[in-house]
Amino acid sequence: MRIVLGVGGGIAAYKSASLLRLFTEAGNNVSVIPTEASLRFVGVATWEALSGNTVSSSVFDEVQKVNHVRLGHEADLIVVAPATADLLARAAAGQANDLLTNTLLMARGPVLFAPAMHTEMWAHPATRANVQTLRSRGILVLEPGVGRLTGTDSGAGRLPDPEDIFAAAMAAVDIRPEEPETLPGPLAGRTVTVTAGGTREPLDPVRFLGNRSSGKQGAALARAALDAGARVRFIAAHMDIPAPDGVELVRVETALELREAVHASAPDSDVLIMAAAVADFRPDTTSDTKIKKRDDGADPVITLIRNPDILAEAVQHRTAGGEAARPALIVGFAAETGDGSADVLEYGRQKLARKGCDLLVLNRVGTSLVFGQDSTEVRLLSPQDSESAPPPTYAGTKTEVAQRIIARVEQEFEAALSVR
Ligand code: CTP
Repeated sequence: MRIVLGVGGGIAAYKSASLLRLFTEAGNNVSVIPTEASLRFVGVATWEALSGNTVSSSVFDEVQKVNHVRLGHEADLIVVAPATADLLARAAAGQANDLLTNTLLMARGPVLFAPAMHTEMWAHPATRANVQTLRSRGILVLEPGVGRLTGTDSGAGRLPDPEDIFAAAMAAVDIRPEEPETLPGPLAGRTVTVTAGGTREPLDPVRFLGNRSSGKQGAALARAALDAGARVRFIAAHMDIPAPDGVELVRVETALELREAVHASAPDSDVLIMAAAVADFRPDTTSDTKIKKRDDGADPVITLIRNPDILAEAVQHRTAGGEAARPALIVGFAAETGDGSADVLEYGRQKLARKGCDLLVLNRVGTSLVFGQDSTEVRLLSPQDSESAPPPTYAGTKTEVAQRIIARVEQEFEAALSVR
């Protein structure tokens, strides 16, 4: 088997020499691609002597061989060890500024990163997000070992033992088909229910109480879940855009119809994402005929009554259903403006606690913010947030933000299953 061993610029680079030996002794042909920075730790001579192949860090060496294309295409497996925070960031961003990152973009087979860095760097939200992005693409990112690090510090961040990296790499080749296009997504075999759009509460046959939700964020979430391999049931209230192709579409109009559809879908869903803007109130009566202006000039009075809180109900049903009740992961949304008594984040935290969901996507809203826009900025709140691990902020197009949310959903879903 042809293996590319990428070596990042960390002190643990020397341990990759043992990993290289394990690969070659098992009969593999290994091409080592060190980053420029890693050569300050271990030089080209070591890699060439141990691998028996020429070694370069640059796309400008042996240009006639177009090495990044050749190595990326030919590799049955690419292992990056140590993967520094910088390498994870460059790979997640799809950068191609040296031979290793170029080769990663050309990869056809499985790719495995074995990270090594200081604990703070590993725990940093930027690194967490990069790891999530890579994992959401089907790339294996091992958890680093815990123990003594380079300085006086210790914690999570040690390069996993070469034997463990070797074992994970061999397993990755066993379970992965050759072509990445046929890889099952991380949510393959899972059912994700997404609600989207704004409910409409009829006053009479021509009028309704509605809201500004366009359904764009919900549609983007459904697409991201489809891309992750999930079967998606899409419960759509009023939307300004078409529902995405490939979903099982359930159309609803009112909060009560949405409630019925959600409770019918939840028991066979693994994940429920409540992106719909549900009317909190509905008129207590709906006139069968158009409400007319009155001759005596009196203004009509509309009495509103509370709609049920569908998200909170879904959480209650799961709790009542016991250990294995579904959905394993319930994601709520919060649209907040903040006011004199609390800011947006404080209201978000209160809402997460009140509704009892597992994740809450917090939006700051205003008449020209979020609704109908193509870009957004959200914070993703979880009951596990703490001062040292505050809720991350995701900004970008609704598609990009949806991909980040789904990557986190994948992670939390796995965690939820493992504690059951
Ligand atoms: N939601 C729901 N049922 C409702 C109202 C809201 O399931 N009757 C869900 C929404 O889909 C969203 C979350 O609850 O996932 C929060 O919606 P939001 O309108 O921000 O919160 P409210 O519960 O309406 O609280 P408030 O209006 O008091 O801020």
